[in-house]
Amino acid sequence: MYRNKFHIQAKKGLVNDPNGLIFWNNEYHVFFQLNPKSCEHTFKHWAHIKSKDLVNWEELPIALAPTDWFDKDGCYSGSAIEKDGKLYLIYTGNVKNNGIRESYQCLAVSEDGVNFEKLGPVIHDKNIPKGYTRHFRDPKVFRKDGKFYLVLGAQRENLTGTILLYSSEDLFNWTFEKELIKNDFGYMCECPDYYSVDNQGVLAFSPQGLEAQGILYNNRYQSGYILRDKEEIEKNTFIEFDRGFEFYAPQSFEGKDNERIMFGWVGMPEELEHPSVEEGWIHCLTLPRVITVKDNKLFQNPHKNLMGLRKDEKILSDLKVQGSLNLKDFEISGKTFELIISLKDVKSDFALKVRSGEKNNTLLKYDYENKIFLFDRENSGRGYKGTRKCKLEKLEKIHIFSDSSCLEIYLNGGEEVFTGNIYPEENDDNIILDGLNIDISNLEFYNI
Ligand code: FRU
Repeated sequence: MYRNKFHIQAKKGLVNDPNGLIFWNNEYHVFFQLNPKSCEHTFKHWAHIKSKDLVNWEELPIALAPTDWFDKDGCYSGSAIEKDGKLYLIYTGNVKNNGIRESYQCLAVSEDGVNFEKLGPVIHDKNIPKGYTRHFRDPKVFRKDGKFYLVLGAQRENLTGTILLYSSEDLFNWTFEKELIKNDFGYMCECPDYYSVDNQGVLAFSPQGLEAQGILYNNRYQSGYILRDKEEIEKNTFIEFDRGFEFYAPQSFEGKDNERIMFGWVGMPEELEHPSVEEGWIHCLTLPRVITVKDNKLFQNPHKNLMGLRKDEKILSDLKVQGSLNLKDFEISGKTFELIISLKDVKSDFALKVRSGEKNNTLLKYDYENKIFLFDRENSGRGYKGTRKCKLEKLEKIHIFSDSSCLEIYLNGGEEVFTGNIYPEENDDNIILDGLNIDISNLEFYNI
């Protein structure tokens, strides 16, 4: 009953990071970390799916399995790039002998985009530069001015996290260039990504070991970005991508029409107590999000092709909320749906309850006085509980994708996003609005 309808997930086992995202030969390829055997973080493979539209996905055979000496304890995260018409994957081969870690950055190639041939390590464990530990992984490759580069997550010998830059002419021979950030970001930076969007450099990564600061950095590990190309970066310029509970290790790529598209992992390392485990699976990926930058601010919006999921449109305009209003009065309710609420001049608190039933509800609330948006899953049903908040100067639009056990909430045209899992009862389907003098100019609802 918790299996999602329109988020990428596996039939069985554990899903984590999106890997190898690429638009190649007119198709979107998505790979992701998968343990096909159990809901634990072991035995990592690269699962593979492709799509023409980012909505309908075709399952392909497993692309990489941990079967060689250089990746025997996991084909860990990495990325994809096209060269001479072929599709190359570069990933971390994780090896553990007697508990001692080795990390190999490995290549694999495919001519048909289905079958991959492993070519072995191109950055060998014994060539890890001096000053860094074996926590050395997650290559994200890109092309710039006719040359290949990759960013890599690393840990310094003093146990602080950083990101390294390598360069190569041919994808096979790599030269260590420099550290991309000089500061300490916790004890490890996983899954770095570097790209330029709207003429702005974006350095994304998932640091481990940041201390919580008020409403910031409340999850076990963080995932965010810096909008700068400088090497010395102030820590407070690191901004979390997502303000919710489960979001980690995102990766981006260039889609059709130069769009910058990102998928994240709806999960958190070491948090395995999700009720979906009873159904033999755990975690999914986020929806594809388009990244844009305007006035030094990064926005994330659900990809427009997701409109292809819409069924049974219901539109209400000029709705005044005075007290509590169950949208069932307008024949609107549901478990898997898209809901867009556009508000006019909000001057008081506004609450929205989704997946609401006799016992459960998930509360989304704007605190006008304090300019705080809240995602509260204390009463959502089973699973992890808690609240997450973010600062929001004004509330103009709430755009929700509700899947069977996963919520994505986009605010004000992608200014802030909250993602999280909830596990209510099957028939908890009420959507309730609550406020005084709240003017909704438009409300759109679609079944999915
Ligand atoms: C992030 C991560 C990566 C690693 C992969 C292993 O979630 O820990 O650093 O490559 O997962 O599955």
